[in-house]
Amino acid sequence: MLSPNIFSILVVLLSAKYIPATLSQMYTQNAQFKGKGFLESFNWETYDDPTHGRVNFVNQGTALNTNLSYADNDVFIMRADYHQIVPSNARGRDSIRITSHDAWGDSLLILDLAHMPEGCATWPAYWTVSKNGPWPQGGEVDILEGVNLNSNNLASLHTTSNCTMPQTRNHTGQVISTNCDAAVNYNQGCGVVSTAPNSYGSGFNNNGGGWIATWRSSNAISHWFWSRNAPNVPDEIRQGYCDGITPGEDWGTPDATFVWSQCDYSSHYDPHQIIFDLTLCGDWAGNAFPTAGCGPGNCQDFVDNNPDAFQNAFWEINSLSVYTPQL
Ligand SMILES: *[C@@H]1O[C@H](CO)[C@@H](O)[C@H](O)[C@H]1NC(C)=O
Ligand SMILES: *[C@@H]1O[C@H](CO)[C@@H](O)[C@H](O)[C@H]1NC(C)=O
Ligand SMILES: *[C@@H]1O[C@H](CO)[C@@H](O)[C@H](O)[C@H]1NC(C)=O
Repeated sequence: MLSPNIFSILVVLLSAKYIPATLSQMYTQNAQFKGKGFLESFNWETYDDPTHGRVNFVNQGTALNTNLSYADNDVFIMRADYHQIVPSNARGRDSIRITSHDAWGDSLLILDLAHMPEGCATWPAYWTVSKNGPWPQGGEVDILEGVNLNSNNLASLHTTSNCTMPQTRNHTGQVISTNCDAAVNYNQGCGVVSTAPNSYGSGFNNNGGGWIATWRSSNAISHWFWSRNAPNVPDEIRQGYCDGITPGEDWGTPDATFVWSQCDYSSHYDPHQIIFDLTLCGDWAGNAFPTAGCGPGNCQDFVDNNPDAFQNAFWEINSLSVYTPQL
């Protein structure tokens, strides 16, 4: 028999307060991209934009020579050209799309972003996609995305068939669709629009940007956003480096969350590369352009003839950190 003393110690050890701390998973930093680090860790893609945008994706050498990409020790910037008129027979306005060489499965991504592309015709995205593919095998996670003059971020998933999300989840965002299958609803995906002010576009930029944390695990994919001047930014997010992070702990309710109760995680998701891109017009921004308050005229003419409109069409990244579960 246990003596009463030992028994009470066991009760304390097993109390509700103690158990979550011992069972929660610690994540350690696996990679950090900052300034010039992006140049050696990402590929500058040059193919035609798969979403049919009015862009000409340039390689890294061209991007650096023309200052469409710029890196020093502290900051990394990439943008669309804002000087040239684009001839109508050209592929499009010079822009960038970069893909990380490496891929990660279960992970925590923390992006410290000072500025994102904004304005009419723009369609920027920060997202991850299966390295193995072919798309949509292995899945897609859209973290920060929108078009034209949008003010609220859209987070979404795109998958192979048989992956849906419950309508009601524990997040602050607004569910706009629940079927993640890329083959239905014209590849709409299962999207959640952020209800956070300043989560996208000019509002995001006017506040100095902020931090976006994306936690991917066999429990869920969840995104948190903190504006630069938010009073509740967790220390481990703000400081940009930490030996160990317990994702979600004291972070409050996520902006968007995607759970696996109606979607088998391991057959829909595998290791992902990280992508940043900036396209113009195309399947989403182009179709939305006429009703976006950007007219008159069509999106392609706007892009070709108004270089000045793209002065704020740039990404400015302070850092991107990747944490993985501690073994
Ligand atoms: C290149 O871009 C950076 C970042 O916007 C800027 O600070 C720098 O002055 C630009 N360089 C030239 C030559 O325009
Ligand atoms: C929702 O998530 C928050 C933050 O993680 C947590 O405090 C709260 O208990 C959760 N609510 C429900 C209904 O699960
Ligand atoms: C669809 O996914 C569920 C799990 O989410 C699984 O039980 C079911 O067998 C799957 N159906 C098909 C046709 O793969």
